[in-house]
Amino acid sequence: MLEKINQTADFIRSKVNDMPRIAIILGTGLGALVDHIDDKQYIPYSEIPNFPISTVEGHSGNLIFGTLGGKRVMAMQGRFHYYEGYDMKQVTFPVRVMKALGVETLFVSNAAGGMNKEFVVGDVMVITDHINLFPENPLRGKNYNELGPRFPAMTEPYNKKFIAMADEIAAEKKIRLMHGVYVGTPGPTFETPAEYEYFRVIGGDAVGMSTVPEVIVAKHADMQVFGVSVITDLGGKDITEVPSHEEVQKAAIVAQPKVVEIIKELVARI
Ligand code: HPA
Repeated sequence: MLEKINQTADFIRSKVNDMPRIAIILGTGLGALVDHIDDKQYIPYSEIPNFPISTVEGHSGNLIFGTLGGKRVMAMQGRFHYYEGYDMKQVTFPVRVMKALGVETLFVSNAAGGMNKEFVVGDVMVITDHINLFPENPLRGKNYNELGPRFPAMTEPYNKKFIAMADEIAAEKKIRLMHGVYVGTPGPTFETPAEYEYFRVIGGDAVGMSTVPEVIVAKHADMQVFGVSVITDLGGKDITEVPSHEEVQKAAIVAQPKVVEIIKELVARI
């Protein structure tokens, strides 16, 4: 694994001059951030040794280097989902490579179903914590001490300073910004009414099929993390609307400008 990470990092270093310290995983709801990145350099995943290839509709696969808010950033256009069949090591491999390249701060975004009754479709939720319901932890197996500790603490998975800064930005820009706990599930099914209720009971505000594996690996590697969810549908026993991939994409596009504003400004300020 170490050899693979280094091989991939070496390849990227051979292509890119000025390595960023900030990386952004552009999930559903943040794709448009690409338009705000200047001096872009694209590296298709298909050209990167050891990188898996994204398969889902609405997710293209490129690593993008450029400038955002005056800072050098690396953006992943398209992520690898567990439901696509990748194992947890493949899902999180890009985060390992980011760390090897010197990235210290990771921004993540996703689409999620809301269980918190205060949420409405189109809301943006800052992730304050998560619950890992994936069947496997990405750190299972041999631990490489070079990458991080065997038993990493997860006391502050999402950086509290970044959350406070996001609240400030949202207040300045009059964006309604919710806080909540993200429940990470393997998918690809959306939840049954009883499952949405169950995730609410255990402390979740929103549920989705990504993010948690990447954040676990980022924390293992001692990176600072900021995450946001776009609430694309609502779930619970009283809710009869049927969520679909199309609905999720549509709602995410509507909420997108708010997420873009927050991330762009946060990058500029850190
Ligand atoms: N459940 C799981 N994943 C999701 C949802 C949902 O309701 N909405 C968007 N991603």
